[in-house]
Amino acid sequence: MCMKMFLFFKREHQKLAMAEAKSLANKVLKEADSFAIADFKDQSFNRLVLTRYACEVLATVSRLDDLCPLKFKSFAVRCSRIGDTNLSCGEVENQVGARIEGKVDLENPNVLVRVFTDGKTYYVTKQLFEYSEKELNFRRVNARPFFHPTSLQPKWARMLLNLSGVKKGQILDPFCGAGGILLEAGILGLKATGIEKDEATVEGANENLWFFKVDNRCKVINKDFLEWNDGKFDAIVTDLPYGKSSLLFGRKLDELYEKSFRKMHEHSDKAVIMGPRDLSALLKATGWRVEGVFSFYVHRTLQRWVHICSS
Ligand SMILES: C[S@@+](CC[C@H](N)C(=O)[O-])C[C@H]1O[C@@H](n2cnc3c(N)ncnc32)[C@H](O)[C@@H]1O
Repeated sequence: MCMKMFLFFKREHQKLAMAEAKSLANKVLKEADSFAIADFKDQSFNRLVLTRYACEVLATVSRLDDLCPLKFKSFAVRCSRIGDTNLSCGEVENQVGARIEGKVDLENPNVLVRVFTDGKTYYVTKQLFEYSEKELNFRRVNARPFFHPTSLQPKWARMLLNLSGVKKGQILDPFCGAGGILLEAGILGLKATGIEKDEATVEGANENLWFFKVDNRCKVINKDFLEWNDGKFDAIVTDLPYGKSSLLFGRKLDELYEKSFRKMHEHSDKAVIMGPRDLSALLKATGWRVEGVFSFYVHRTLQRWVHICSS
């Protein structure tokens, strides 16, 4: 059974948020800058990191008078504007609240009714998910037993995994470093294999995987990716070495990228690759179809590009 969901994006990365939503949804029914409406056959909207609220659509009306009565044990109503409208959110909340039977509880309601409106259409929804950094923060880079300066924060690792669209299956990270992507894959219930050439980093990655109890699903192999040949995966998800804090082992950056992009075809038909610049041209030249490329700031000063590719 499909659930029709209203996904209200976080303001800072709306294009990426749309790509993330598309990767996990079964079908996107409506696309806008700040939101999407999409069918989901499962609960994977719970893993989105660039969506602020994921809400089940209860009704879509152009006049609140047309809203059929709703009934909940207890409820609260919140309104958000999604377009150029100066409509009063307080008034919308009162009007919608008047059509709901049940006790108003602003602190701890059974159902949080969210109304999204551009002044012409009212999407009346029930919130099922609200993004929170709290759970992800347990695994933030400096809360792990092994710290590495190039490690990805859990939010970005999860975003890359989400962009792969893999919900069950096996992931390969050919440049796994301290295991940021593997760790998050394990938490999502995926199996993950990482390749890392630096022995001390492999030990550290294993420590991190063991500490967060995902070492039964994730493994790290101490090898040079260009000299490793083993297995097919549902997707490659990786954050490339870029030669500042991350080692290149005497190779030139472009040579390493070109050879590894060619080699990735042996292991998967799908790849989500994060890099220090737009690598679309090189990816295309090495046989990948680039379905999307997005730039974003990992933190205030560090810009990265993410490429969604298929064979
Ligand atoms: C940007 S870091 C990955 C960080 C990782 N995503 C994390 O969250 O910890 C890239 C890693 O690639 C490794 N590396 C560089 N060249 C390699 C190669 N040829 N084969 C395997 N690993 C390599 C580096 O030692 C480095 O740890």
